Amino acid sequence: MRFKTHIQNLPAYKPTKLITGPTTDLIKLSSNENPLGPSPKAVAAIQAAAAQIHRYPDASSMALRQALAEHVGLTAAHVTCSNGSDELILLLCLAFLEAGDEVVMAEGTFISYLLRTLELAAQPVRVPLQHYTHHLAAMANAITPRTRLLFLCNPNNPTGTTNGAAELAQLLEVIPDDLLLVVDEAYIEFALRPDYPDLLPHLRDGRPNLILLRTFAKIHGLAGLRLGYAYSHPDLIAYLERVRPTFNVNLLAQVAGLAALADQEHVVRSRDHANASRTTLTSGLEALGLTPIASETNFIAVHVGDDAAVSDALRQQGFTITPLSGWGLPGLIRISFGTDEQNHAFLKALRTVLSR
Ligand SMILES: Cc1ncc(COP(=O)(O)O)c(C=O)c1O
Repeated sequence: MRFKTHIQNLPAYKPTKLITGPTTDLIKLSSNENPLGPSPKAVAAIQAAAAQIHRYPDASSMALRQALAEHVGLTAAHVTCSNGSDELILLLCLAFLEAGDEVVMAEGTFISYLLRTLELAAQPVRVPLQHYTHHLAAMANAITPRTRLLFLCNPNNPTGTTNGAAELAQLLEVIPDDLLLVVDEAYIEFALRPDYPDLLPHLRDGRPNLILLRTFAKIHGLAGLRLGYAYSHPDLIAYLERVRPTFNVNLLAQVAGLAALADQEHVVRSRDHANASRTTLTSGLEALGLTPIASETNFIAVHVGDDAAVSDALRQQGFTITPLSGWGLPGLIRISFGTDEQNHAFLKALRTVLSR
């Protein structure tokens, strides 16, 4: 076979290692999932629709798009749905990048931006974080006439930090008309700062070069169902339709998404739980002499020294977390919030690991 060299050279996705070691009840704190589980209303909707899965889904996800549009005061033409927001990152790269084009992103952010850019033989331009936060002025300076996309993860995975409205407004002012600003808001529902940027008014005003990525995987607890969506200008949404696989959002995901969106009680419960977990883990980590990064998400990152060794040792204690060397942040680990019981048990395990 003749493989494409730039694809052959890509690192393959490494899924969390299979469960081995002293415990079979490995507690997974490595994927920023919702420890409270899915919205019960979404589960009921899936059960009610299960007997219909011999049918293809609505290829346009229209009912869900309409609900998502109404939720924020836009129209269905401003919305597209996807097989997880990860698929949207791929579709954006497919739709906008040619070999050699440049993509500005942070070094120390969600890894899909880098991988999908490389798949298209485009050129990642990685800008170091500043105080574990996107350095927007430096990212703006990294833009050249070849830059087609700029990825901004706000709040940022894996550091949990955010950028505020004033610096976002500045960035929006300086980016060229032919550059698409992709703001990945997968964790928006957890953001805390009062000046967290609301970018929807730009879309209501018709801004053509901005897209906001969102997901049902985090606060709604539907990670396994694979459901993401985006808000953007209708022309850009229509353009993405050209690369979107026809039935990318399955029938159960569509009904579950509608039910989850209507279940704001689950959203509030999940946010309250994340806030409580953050307090527990922050003070617990500080009590171990560590300095966690202030997080506005459902996970927390902290410097522990040898992230790979600590991760392996935690695994032996029954916990999976994410070592961040591979994300450009050597020495740090990322811990997703668990249930109250899991959070306390994790801190105990970490104490054991660090005291060795
Ligand atoms: C910042 C960010 N964007 C996108 C995704 C992908 O989410 P989805 O499960 O909707 O594909 C994740 C998943 O962890 C994420 O952290």
